[in-house]
Amino acid sequence: MSAKIIDGKQIAADIRAELTTAVAALKEKGIVPGLGVILVGADPASQSYVTAKERACETIGIYSDDNRLTAETSQEELLALVDRMNNDPKINGILVQLPLPKHIDEAAVLLAIDPDKDVDGFHPMNVGKMMVGEETFLPCTPHGILQMLSRSGVETEGAHVVVIGRSNIVGKPVANMLLQKKKGANATVTLCHTRTKDVGHFARQADIIIAASGWPNTVTADMVKPGAVVVDVGVNRVEDSTRERGYRLVGDVDFDAVKEVASMITPVPGGVGPMTITMLLYNTVESARRANGIK
Ligand code: GUN
Repeated sequence: MSAKIIDGKQIAADIRAELTTAVAALKEKGIVPGLGVILVGADPASQSYVTAKERACETIGIYSDDNRLTAETSQEELLALVDRMNNDPKINGILVQLPLPKHIDEAAVLLAIDPDKDVDGFHPMNVGKMMVGEETFLPCTPHGILQMLSRSGVETEGAHVVVIGRSNIVGKPVANMLLQKKKGANATVTLCHTRTKDVGHFARQADIIIAASGWPNTVTADMVKPGAVVVDVGVNRVEDSTRERGYRLVGDVDFDAVKEVASMITPVPGGVGPMTITMLLYNTVESARRANGIK
């Protein structure tokens, strides 16, 4: 039996339609949500992510302030730009695309962002609030994953979720969010990483697998319990001479084989990716609401 494909594009489109209505309502009150976007350097993947984020802003009526800086930009220059955005009332959210060039201290930059404009949810204050279950900006990819699961009718309460990968952007926060004592969470969570002795041993016990390792074929069919739900966060470029651009995108899951074992699976592309961008829009609209005292 072939798994049901969880259509991230469709779920993202549903949420974006809700956000378009919310933005129109804010505009009636004279409020235009604004996102400040900063990209340092010319990494092609980061360039395409940032362009996609700005296009998405435009489609739902969010104003975006685009700042593409050269790879030689100093930390001081970057911090000065963050400071300008912190103090600009037209900007409700600040997005510094990661990774940053090696000479820039990423932690220092994330710490400089006003926590009230931290729509990525990466500021340590917001990470702490998330961890203790207080309301805050939730990081976009983990939040998108939880939305996908709940909107697809996947029950997380009491489920065993195995997360593969311990990044600050996906693995650690999604594991944390899923173990919160809340609706759409309440799971038993196992977090596997590069020093886990036998990832398959844990993965085979999972009702839900979240693959966020950054390596193709991390999850193979023999690692999946029949009927499990598989969420693939990976975006990996693999050489493909049959494609005009010379590569194709694959996730961290061996999709063709795993879809024959799982009950539901997210594709790459068209799965988690559109959700990440959508939750960034969601946080930006939420920030504009909060800045104007609207519940
Ligand atoms: N790089 C990869 N994912 C993300 C993300 O969600 N936000 C930012 N700022 N950078 C990223």
